[in-house]
Amino acid sequence: MKKIMELSNGISMPQLGFGVFQIPTHEDAKKATLQAIKAGYRLIDTAAAYMNERAVGEAIKESGVPREDLFITTKLWVQDMGYEATQKAIDHSLARLDLDYLDLYLIHQPLNDVYGSWRAMEDAYDAGKLKAIGVANFENDRLQDLMINNRIKPMVNQIELHPFHAQFKRVQWLQKQGIVAEAWGPFAEGKQQIFSNPIIKKIAQSHEKTTGQVILRWLTQRGIVVIPKSVHEERIVENFAITDFELTALEMDMMSTLDQKQSLFGDMHDPETVVTLEKMHLDYDER
Ligand SMILES: NC(=O)c1ccc[n+]([C@@H]2O[C@H](COP(=O)([O-])OP(=O)(O)OC[C@H]3O[C@@H](n4cnc5c(N)ncnc54)[C@H](OP(=O)(O)O)[C@@H]3O)[C@@H](O)[C@H]2O)c1
Repeated sequence: MKKIMELSNGISMPQLGFGVFQIPTHEDAKKATLQAIKAGYRLIDTAAAYMNERAVGEAIKESGVPREDLFITTKLWVQDMGYEATQKAIDHSLARLDLDYLDLYLIHQPLNDVYGSWRAMEDAYDAGKLKAIGVANFENDRLQDLMINNRIKPMVNQIELHPFHAQFKRVQWLQKQGIVAEAWGPFAEGKQQIFSNPIIKKIAQSHEKTTGQVILRWLTQRGIVVIPKSVHEERIVENFAITDFELTALEMDMMSTLDQKQSLFGDMHDPETVVTLEKMHLDYDER
């Protein structure tokens, strides 16, 4: 793994970060973010839709780590798509996080007025509010179209990536385009007993590492950015300790045999999924 990835615009992005999705309370989100920064994480991945930007902002302040040493990502939710709504959403996220710029801003879903939003993001990028811009959950064809029809090429695509959904072709194409692939759900959110999978366990034992560490290592050795989430301090620390071992080519291949070649989180191409996401109107104030 590289530790630091260089985005196509020259900005440095840590290869290992911390995700804060599905942490139910303000206090827990703040506590986990503080524990992660204390453990050494510098990339924090939140989203307006996670309803914890305020908690992350408070943790950033309390951590005492200089702003310029952190890499903060947040995302634009579906209800805020379109040029003007996106301009407002960026300012609202900045206000909730109590920051004057974001290191990375992503379109959360490839839905609604993607093009209007992208142009607002390009303008906010030019104005210095956003240091890098990108997307999440975009198929390569949608990304190609976005690139053809706009001025600034997305620097990152954050997609579902874990041993059960390895997405080799999709990642290869992104990397060929100079777009950083970032893995969401690197542990498949614990589905299918991933942490006790016999193949991953065997590899972990031979390195005296945990299965979680082997999964993160397999992804980062593929040149992918990872943002594992945990609310347990010992796991937060464990997930950060992946730089002192390396998987062999054979172990990389063994991990690749686990690929099921499909999402574990539903079908984004199902019109019903689109209806559900488009109807999901969120009040970004925290629970
Ligand atoms: N762009 C998108 O559409 C999108 C979608 C999903 C996620 N994301 C981002 O990606 C981040 C990571 O994905 P995720 O949160 O969905 O899932 P994940 O990181 O794959 O899995 C998190 C789950 O694994 C458990 N876990 C973490 N470390 C562990 C360890 N060392 N041993 C055993 N269990 C462990 C956590 O439990 P505990 O918390 O109880 O420890 C939690 O249940 C998110 O937080 C978010 O920032 C983005």
